[in-house]
Amino acid sequence: MLAMLFLTFFVGCTHRVNIVAPAENMGRPKYEAFAKNSMVTSQGEATSRAALSTIAKGGNIIDAFVTASFTISVERPHSTGIGGGGFLLYFNTVDKKVYAFDFREIAPVLATSDMFLTEDGKTQPLLSQEGVFAVATPGLVAGLYDIHRRFGKLPWKDIIQPAIDLARNGFPLYEQLYIALQDRKHILSVDPEAKSTFLLNDGSVPKMGTLVVQENLAKTLELIALQGKQAFYKGKVADAIVKAVRSKRGILTLKDLRDYRMKERLPVSAAYKGLKIFSMPPPSSGGIHVIQILKMLEPHNLKAMGPQSTDAVHLTANSMQRAFVDRATYLGDPDFNHVPVKELLSSKYLEKLSKEIDTKKALRADTLKPIALPYESSDTTHFSIADKDGNMVASTQTINGWFGSGVIAQGTGIILNNEMDDFAQKVGAQNLFGAVGGNNNLVEPKKRPLSSMSPTIITKDEKPFMALGSPSGTRIITCVAQTILNSVEFDMPLYESVAATRIHQQWQPDLLKIEAPYLSSHVEKALKERGHNVVHEKLGCSIQAIKRENNQWTGVSDPRGEGLALGN
Ligand code: GLY
Repeated sequence: MLAMLFLTFFVGCTHRVNIVAPAENMGRPKYEAFAKNSMVTSQGEATSRAALSTIAKGGNIIDAFVTASFTISVERPHSTGIGGGGFLLYFNTVDKKVYAFDFREIAPVLATSDMFLTEDGKTQPLLSQEGVFAVATPGLVAGLYDIHRRFGKLPWKDIIQPAIDLARNGFPLYEQLYIALQDRKHILSVDPEAKSTFLLNDGSVPKMGTLVVQENLAKTLELIALQGKQAFYKGKVADAIVKAVRSKRGILTLKDLRDYRMKERLPVSAAYKGLKIFSMPPPSSGGIHVIQILKMLEPHNLKAMGPQSTDAVHLTANSMQRAFVDRATYLGDPDFNHVPVKELLSSKYLEKLSKEIDTKKALRADTLKPIALPYESSDTTHFSIADKDGNMVASTQTINGWFGSGVIAQGTGIILNNEMDDFAQKVGAQNLFGAVGGNNNLVEPKKRPLSSMSPTIITKDEKPFMALGSPSGTRIITCVAQTILNSVEFDMPLYESVAATRIHQQWQPDLLKIEAPYLSSHVEKALKERGHNVVHEKLGCSIQAIKRENNQWTGVSDPRGEGLALGN
């Protein structure tokens, strides 16, 4: 395993900022790039290269987005894939508009609000996390296909080719995939296709560096390249998906697949320090809460307090905590429950919340409205792309937990998601990860489960400024907000904004989580004295950010990960 090195970095002469150094043998250049024309930051080296090669062949940013999506599906099969779904934010310089697309999975038509409960009303967390009942109707292929038809330039089949080649030729097994395989081998080893693709004959995980080849997935991608989205939602691939689920008495049907539709949504947006922030609206909670956190902090002069000072961390933690109360209370699929987006983002409301924050004492979870909080798991992926014309995309995609449901549609290489676990099994019920669920996020047929994915685009005077996002469930929201704070409020360079120590507070559990390399001991002591329940914990974010500065792009792929920032 590669050891992580930690160091302390000084910004200016007054404020000390802890940053995490790249893993051994992977210098900062891998994670940071500067370029005049185009830039890609993703969690996969092959993905960043493939997306840039699509642009080099004359493709536009949407072509590059499609290439990146299919390639990352192959390169990070534990995090994302065509058996899952996602979101896209797209800034188009021609009409100066930011588009939001929702290709999130949806609950099958036969789903019911009590499908995960025993007869006497007890929850069964494993049922929504592993196996056929965890599977929601995948949306990724429909999303990519429809978005490409509207905005793409190169032929569909050409831009999928890098993903087909990667699946067929393979890539060396890397650390995060190795860890995910160790974690899920008990499920993968009982599935013949999963076992032969990812494990050794005795069910153990191959050693790092072993070639990972996904031939069946290559064949499925070839079909999709030739026939478009139909190849996934109808015909033999659809039959195999439904057979995998129905043979174990699951509920996904051919009609669910046939009827899947992507949705265009209106992004949530807000003015912030001379910039305009656009992010993903419901069914993601992400955009609303990223904006809420930043707007609650805006009236305070955080810059004068200093990054990672006791006062700045205290206010940030309290703002995060307050935002998560709203998440549990109001958020869900807007097609099923009214989500008061305008009210949650109104200046009056956010000023009120900001004033309620005690500048010296931690908020206590039990003094805030105790409403249950929906859970999401910690995996997923994100990439950002920018091109020479100033267009930007930010896309977060997922099959939810590592290797999703663990169900593979035989002969297709498709790993099916476990996105049903992003619903609440019942109001107030705790799941495997200790979080509890809210009313607006109960299972309903054709409903989209609540997400935290927060692909975000920032513009300045209608020109590109920044594109970013991250994996890691509820932590996505706070990691994205902190990266914006570091870059915009504290004027930190982009690399330091991404690499700096992060905190996370999500109201329940009432903990202030601080990630390595942590804060200075006197700041952590002062936070405890103010009533924060400080714990040290890995947060799992992997920010992929691009910023426009000095007439060029700066790209940063989180040095905590195995990604690549690449420009030309
Ligand atoms: N499944 C993770 C999320 O949607 O937030």
